[in-house]
Amino acid sequence: MTVRLEVMPAGAWAGEVASRLLAALDANRGMRLVLPTGDTPSPVYAELAARAADRFGEAVVLGLDEWVGLPAHDPARCDGRLRRELLDRLVAPPAFREIAVDAFPSPDRAAREHDVHAQAGLDLVVLGLGGNGHVGFNEPGSTPTSPTRVVRLAEATLDASVERYGATLRPSGGITLGMDRILAAGAVWLLATGSRKAAILARALHAPESPECPASFLRRHPALTVFADEPAAVRLGVSG
Ligand code: F6R
Repeated sequence: MTVRLEVMPAGAWAGEVASRLLAALDANRGMRLVLPTGDTPSPVYAELAARAADRFGEAVVLGLDEWVGLPAHDPARCDGRLRRELLDRLVAPPAFREIAVDAFPSPDRAAREHDVHAQAGLDLVVLGLGGNGHVGFNEPGSTPTSPTRVVRLAEATLDASVERYGATLRPSGGITLGMDRILAAGAVWLLATGSRKAAILARALHAPESPECPASFLRRHPALTVFADEPAAVRLGVSG
């Protein structure tokens, strides 16, 4: 297991992660990448929106996860949020394969269709880290072989949808890219910022692998890079 850990001062973190992503895009213009939503990547997207210009133009972006049961224009929707914060702000936006939860008769079908896009290959999966160790919506109980699927969300995740992301309703569930697809990607980046992620990041990287902390399985990936700011890394025994 080799985890590449990059720790940066909080004030430099978003700019540095954005620079790394632009460098990766410059090296592979047709990159197929999966992007998360949430509070962690937002400042990275603000940097990218200001600096990326046309560098995403040939890329394909796939959604990582989506709420089930929220109306199409709900402010918490992952597809809308990614468009608002990044894609719609780019001079040349990439192709976007969102999880098309409204386009199919059932969430199960939307999950299966998304998995077909993922199966075509993923160069890079970018992830945030849930306070309970989830990645995407692979909640505790997920294993390395968990597929792309409809999931029952943890209460804390549902609380976040309303309290932190402004959902107008409590979602009935979620759709997530599976752990199997995440672990099969060419590279995985795990983003973590702020002191409230310190304990779960230490658990993900140092405690025994366990379905209780699905992020711990990322250590199996041969090309995992963790980008943490100093407050999130405080329990890892390293400094930036
Ligand atoms: C959202 C997602 C989630 C979040 C995680 C952390 O698309 O995939 O796994 O990354 O819940 O959320 P924040 O960054 O808001 O703390």
